[in-house]
Parts: sequence; structure tokens; C-alpha cells
Amino acid sequence: MRKFLKTKSLFVAGLLCTTSLAHAEDVEVLHWWTSGGEAAALNVLKDDLSGQGIGWTDMPVAGGGGEQAMTVLRARVTAGNAPTAVQALGFDILDWADQGALADLNEVAAQEGWDDVVPDALKAFAKHDGKWVSAPVNVHSTNWVWANKAVLDANGIAQPTNWDEFVAAVEALKAAGVTPIAHGGQAWQDATVFDAVAMSTLGPDGYKAAFIDLDEETLGGDAMKEAFDRMAFIRDNVDENFSGRDWNLATAMVINGEAGFQMMGDWAKGEFLNAGKVPGEDFLCFRFPGTQDQVTFNADQFMMFDQGGTVSAEQAALASAILSPSFQIAFNKVKGSVPARTDVDGSDLDACGQQGMKDLAAAASSGNLFGSMAHGHAAPASVKNAVYDVVTAHFNGEYGSEDAVTELVDAVSIAK
Ligand code: GAL
Repeated sequence: MRKFLKTKSLFVAGLLCTTSLAHAEDVEVLHWWTSGGEAAALNVLKDDLSGQGIGWTDMPVAGGGGEQAMTVLRARVTAGNAPTAVQALGFDILDWADQGALADLNEVAAQEGWDDVVPDALKAFAKHDGKWVSAPVNVHSTNWVWANKAVLDANGIAQPTNWDEFVAAVEALKAAGVTPIAHGGQAWQDATVFDAVAMSTLGPDGYKAAFIDLDEETLGGDAMKEAFDRMAFIRDNVDENFSGRDWNLATAMVINGEAGFQMMGDWAKGEFLNAGKVPGEDFLCFRFPGTQDQVTFNADQFMMFDQGGTVSAEQAALASAILSPSFQIAFNKVKGSVPARTDVDGSDLDACGQQGMKDLAAAASSGNLFGSMAHGHAAPASVKNAVYDVVTAHFNGEYGSEDAVTELVDAVSIAK
């Protein structure tokens, strides 16, 4: 390890000297990490870089899931003013790589042996035509439930393990006058819940057929209608102010004991930690009932925009910092995600983080690891947006479950 680190710093030092570090430039980083927990995680990266003498120009674009950030990015690139590095997800990275907009990171990747340590599921989005075009910073997953332990205990509710137990728990909270489900009514949040509900209702084969293979029969089938019925149940058990609420404010409802559960990716854990809460004592994390053996993942990556030729020294240093083993642990402890490398020791992570790592490894080896539809890892943005539209319209009562499946089949077939 020491030899590796030494080689690594020599390599980065070399790049810094041979390229432009005589006048070190800041890295300008476009991202959507603006909640308390996300900002705390981002600080870990900023501090790491500042330790290397690299400055940071912050370009935050608020909006969970990153839709607004992607809109701003498109405008910046169109204006010929791409940021140095950009947080991005799955198919969006491949899309920019297809357009030839991204810098080639193969040199730093080869020096640091990324091919040997980054899992294939992430390489599928970090590499394009054999070229590394982005640096994965983490692995999140979307099929989690976050619960306030005191609220559950006070109402005699055990952690639900299947849909029927979940329904019973929700009914018990409602009867006790507690908001059962904290939710923010934004399309990406509705879709995040739908990831888990669909996985639980359709099973892993059905999830893959619908959202990765885009099979019409599955998209329009009875199990999909059942998934929409379950979404309607969830809609009936959120508070009346859910519309438009940011995800972290929904998390705060669970943190404060105003609500029992939130279905959200493990970035929610960053909010609990930022509020000083302890897993297992103050809050529970568990897989959405019926998805205990599956993981719907999304990995944040930083794609490096081609600034005219070779990768810049700052971009190489940023990429190198992002994938260093010590940074991977330090960052992911705060962010709620798990490392993007398979060779780091996760014993330093809290109970939820350790479960996340264990689940990820088990799902990868049993063939139960799937890209998240809601977070751009199942299908390209056009299809994702089509699913968002239908899930949100149904969630808001524009149509019932029967019509939702018909709409879903139509919308996906037009988008794909
Ligand atoms: C996801 C992203 C996470 C988290 C979340 C809410 O798309 O992967 O890192 O930030 O959005 O903003």
C-alpha cells in the first residue's frame, strides 16, 4: 500500500509539474450537494484538495437528483464554458462521452490501477470506448427505508419485512396520529420511492425486464398495476404539505419524530449523522420490505470536461483524490454511501454503512444488483423522464393505476 501511495503521489506530482501547475488553477466543480449532510461530505473533498494546494470554485445547483444541475450544465457547455468537473450519474455520463465532451483519464487510471479495484457495475458508466471519462466517488442505493426508532418503539412497531407488515405499521402510526410517511412531492422523489416499490412488487426479474430491457409486456402487466396501487397507498399516508418539499426536509421530519418512515436513498443517512443521530439508537435503516436481497444502485461520479486537449493537472489531481482509498472511506462515512472500490476496509463505517457494503457485495454476486431507474442507472434520460412523468402524474391523482400502466407503456415506447 505504501508503495502504491508513493507511486501515486509521484505520478500526480509529475503531472502537476509537467502541465500547468506553475499557475495552479482552481477546480470549478458543478454539483447538487447542497443539503447539510451533502455539504458536510463535500467539505471532505474540498479539504483533501486544499491539502494538495488545489483551490475549489464552487458551482452548486440545488435540486436533489441533479435535474437542475444537468440543465445548468447543458447551458454552460452550449456557451463554451464547461466547468472543470461535474457531478453526474450513469447514462448522463455516457451521453456526454458520446458527444466527445469528456477528458481522457486513462493515464491516471492506469497509474493507480482503477481497472482492478472499481467494480464492473460502475465501470459500465465510468468508461466509454475503453477510455476512463469519470471518477466514481461512491455507491448509493435507493431501496432503503429510514425510521425514527423512538416513534416505532412508542407504537409497538417492529421493523417491517414485507409489504403487509409495512401496511400494518403505517396504519398503526396513522391511528396514533403520527404522519406515517415523510415525503417530498418532487418527480425524482416519487420515482425514488417507485424504484423500491417496483422492485418489491415485480421482483428482480420484473424490475430488470421493465426498466432495463424496457419490455412492454412487463411495463404494462398486472404486477406493474399492483406497484402503482402500492404507490397510491403511500400517497394516502403522507402529510398534506408534501407537495414540492425537498427531500432533506422530509428526512428532518423523521429525525424530529414528526413522521415514522422515509423511503429514500442512503444520502438520507448523511442528514441523520449531520444532526448527531446514531444508527440503531435514534434511527433505523433497512431495505424496503420485500427487497432485502436486492440493491438498486446509483453511483455519483465526477466527469472531467475536456478543456482543450489533455487532461489538466487539476483534473488529474481531483480524479486521483476521489479514488484514493483513505478518501473513499472518509467521504462515504459522511455521505451515507459506500466506497466505489472493492479493496477498502469498511470496518470504520457505521452499522448502516456496513450493511450497505455487505448488501452490495451479496447483490453483485447473486445477480441482484440493478441500476436505479430514478437515478439514471437503468435507462437513458429520455426514458427516465418518461417514467418520472407517469409516476408523478399517478402519485398526484391525475389518473388511476389502470391508466398509469397504459401511460407508462406509451411514454416509454415514445422515449426509447
Ligand atoms: C442523488 C445523488 C446523491 C444525493 C441525492 C439527493 O442523485 O446520487 O448523491 O445527492 O441525489 O441530492
